[in-house]
Amino acid sequence: MQSSASILLVLATISCCNALLFGLIGTEQSVAVTGKLTCNGEPAAHVRVKLYEKEATLDVLLGEGTTDENGEFSLQGHKVEVSTIDPKLNIYHKCNYKGVCFGEEKCYQKSSLTIPDNFITEGEVPQKTFNMPSSTILILFVLVSSCLSISIEIGNLQSVAVNGTLLCNDKPANNIKVKLYEEEAILDVLLDERFTSESGTFEMSGSKSEVTTIDPKLNIYHKCNYDGICVRKISIMIPPEYVTNGEKPARVYNIGEINLASKFSGQSTDCFN
Ligand SMILES: *[C@@H]1O[C@H](CO)[C@@H](O)[C@H](O)[C@H]1NC(C)=O
Repeated sequence: MQSSASILLVLATISCCNALLFGLIGTEQSVAVTGKLTCNGEPAAHVRVKLYEKEATLDVLLGEGTTDENGEFSLQGHKVEVSTIDPKLNIYHKCNYKGVCFGEEKCYQKSSLTIPDNFITEGEVPQKTFNMPSSTILILFVLVSSCLSISIEIGNLQSVAVNGTLLCNDKPANNIKVKLYEEEAILDVLLDERFTSESGTFEMSGSKSEVTTIDPKLNIYHKCNYDGICVRKISIMIPPEYVTNGEKPARVYNIGEINLASKFSGQSTDCFN
């Protein structure tokens, strides 16, 4: 009984000295930040924003809030520190994010922005306000992409369109399955899937957010001059100059007429498509 009481006393003394050493020594500094967040040109309302002071071990929360109906927010906070404080703004959002959800926390993308030193002022009330450049969340991604832990569904929204005509032995090849994929290191992402028309034509398009230029490809699954139980697969890479920024493709990659009866180098047999 006695010993545990004295341990408590020692702990209390230590935390009191910590407070004296690390809490009261230094200068009171403050910071304020405002900004407007948009997602694809629309105000990003109800987005959680947090102002942190970066520390070696654990960041200290200085203030938090959410954007209003116009996507606007304003946060401020203060802290006593011997050296200049290192505040940062964290934004937790779902703009163009369709990632898989495991628990509520992981359903958001986090963007971090460091607040420049010259916006830190002495005293409890900030004398200056850092007004975030009228950047969209997407622009933020480009600025701080190296700070992000998840790199799958972030970056620039890019789009692509492809069309053409398929023939088999010089006749229109109708009802042929065509798929538009984005090549990924682990698993390709399906952007669009169609069947050719009565006259053998098709047109497909899709879009995806990616930090680097997307690598779209067209897969054609056919049985032209082939009797096997599966299908023949032809893969055609879409050149990067046909990938454009934004949700709507600005160009169409026209593969022209393809005769499925010919032999192709990129041809293989596929049983699971
Ligand atoms: C493909 O798209 C181009 C440009 O929009 C168009 O001129 C052409 O007729 C289309 N071809 C097919 C087969 O849809």
